Amino acid sequence: MNRADTPRPRHRFLVTAGPTREPVDAIRFFTNRSSGRMGYSLARACAERGHDVTLITGPVAIKPPVGVEVVFVETALEMCAAVLDRVEEYSGLLMCAAVADYRPAEPHPGKRSKTPGDWILRLVRNPDILLEVDRLGYKGLRLGFAAEFGDPRERGRQKLEEKHLDLLAANDISRDELGMGAIQNAIWLMDRWGGSVAIGPADKGVVAMELVEHLEDAILRLAQDPD
Ligand code: CTP
Repeated sequence: MNRADTPRPRHRFLVTAGPTREPVDAIRFFTNRSSGRMGYSLARACAERGHDVTLITGPVAIKPPVGVEVVFVETALEMCAAVLDRVEEYSGLLMCAAVADYRPAEPHPGKRSKTPGDWILRLVRNPDILLEVDRLGYKGLRLGFAAEFGDPRERGRQKLEEKHLDLLAANDISRDELGMGAIQNAIWLMDRWGGSVAIGPADKGVVAMELVEHLEDAILRLAQDPD
């Protein structure tokens, strides 16, 4: 029996996608250029390969894939709580979301009106969701993304180690036509065993399909070689 004939195990994947919105007051917020496309493509690709998928998404302008459970959130704190509440039930956490690292310290209740002079805002750190998941002692597969300006490999490898990830997809966001906010992506997929492979440039759907095959392989490898 060759590999193609072997029935593929079904997994449960928790995918995050899109930006988060960090309120300044009741009508204003900080956000970023994430379109959600990479995370949505990954959720769709996982579902198409027969896996169970829950997508936790920040506000985006695209439709969720069919056959995927969807949880809508706005802020990094909400995304963090949504992930921590359910991650233990999943065999893999795929953190595609562009989570805001900071939020306004004291969002103004209602709409803040102009005052004479400048408006100085203080930002405080948001939790790092991957580190919080690590603190929980989560045993499933963890995939992170690293959006970097220029060659992302060195910083990507660092993030993989700092966040105790199994896989990290690193991409260069200095080019408008690739990565954050774009239709296409090109990633370096690095793994905890020292391997790395280039995927793309291609449409995010194509990159996602290839990525899922690596996720499936990594879950198998993790089961055989957890340390
Ligand atoms: N991430 C997270 N929680 C955050 C910020 C990021 O879990 N508060 C995750 C992202 O979903 C991604 C990975 O961490 O999978 C790396 O995100 P990135 O923004 O590239 O890295 P940061 O850790 O925020 O580092 P920096 O912005 O300093 O480069």
